[in-house]
Amino acid sequence: MRTLTGIKPTGILHIGNFFGAMRPAIELQAAGDAFYFVADYHSMTSLTDSVERKRYTLGVALDWLACGLDPAKAVFWRQSDVPEVCELTWLIGSLTPMGLLERAHSYKDSLAKGLQPNWGLFTYPVLMAADILLYDTHRVPVGKDQKQHVEFTRDIAIKFNLTYGETFVVPEPVIRDEVAVIPGLDGQKMSKSYGNTIEIFGDEKVMRKKIMGIKMDSRTPVEPKPDADQNLAIQLLRHVAPAPVAADYENRLRAGGLGYGDLKKALFEHYWDYFAAARTRRAELESNPDHIEEILRDGAGRAQSVAAKTMARARLACGLR
Ligand code: ADP
Ligand code: TRP
Repeated sequence: MRTLTGIKPTGILHIGNFFGAMRPAIELQAAGDAFYFVADYHSMTSLTDSVERKRYTLGVALDWLACGLDPAKAVFWRQSDVPEVCELTWLIGSLTPMGLLERAHSYKDSLAKGLQPNWGLFTYPVLMAADILLYDTHRVPVGKDQKQHVEFTRDIAIKFNLTYGETFVVPEPVIRDEVAVIPGLDGQKMSKSYGNTIEIFGDEKVMRKKIMGIKMDSRTPVEPKPDADQNLAIQLLRHVAPAPVAADYENRLRAGGLGYGDLKKALFEHYWDYFAAARTRRAELESNPDHIEEILRDGAGRAQSVAAKTMARARLACGLR
């Protein structure tokens, strides 16, 4: 049972990425056969600064490793180190209906924003399907926003198998309800592109300011708040504090007597403590970037040996060999 997921290096990772994709993936690595990568090709549809791409790629790799990805248990690599994925994109893209890609949320969102999408953005889901199919993936841990892409991957795999004979494993998304959408500082989905993030490894002062700046309503501390479970700080606290602690804050807010300032202070402290060990590990890893490069190269070698077999099978199936 192979697990695979990727994160694109287009910015600094936030706790939505962590709880939605990274933590579930890290938990699944214990079962073995885990394939995780930094999706640098995918970053190209929106990021054109080459220096930033390199910096974010190293940053995402450091974040994964600091958060517990263990290269002894999981294959960890940089997507572009296995360029076969581009060849597979062509093979499966040639069977992908335009209508399917026109339905993609990512493409429709960029049209709605008045942007002029490039070919890469339009074909983004095909490259993602190639990532998944190239490595015979069974399950893909992602946040809810990526569900449609995994469904497209299933459709594409089924179509290829029907057209050319059984070639690809048909994957399933793994989306946990409780972390499907982590809200951001403004209550919308937390996202690098909305400027509403709590970074996993933010600077202490900046993060305290961001969290203390979360907007609340104007009710006084003593007023009971029957809607305490809807409170944004409570929702975030549930992820970073032990369940009984979060439940206690929620009850105190509901009963009245707990001020929003104190609640946000508690949220900051629990967030800060939650990532303390990972922060220390990240600082150690950061002092040795050559070691990160070695880990990624070793992972690329292992990923490539699987990719070579799938590509041989796929080329044969469609008559290229
Ligand atoms: P962003 O929206 O910040 O650009 P990405 O699209 O790079 O994030 O997402 C990387 C992974 O993190 C994906 O699996 C995605 O589903 C997950 N993810 C991103 N934001 C959230 C969130 N707010 N809640 C849950 N999962 C998320
Ligand atoms: N598209 C994903 C995102 O924006 C990143 C990604 C690329 C991915 N290839 C993947 C996720 C394969 C899971 C599997 O977050």
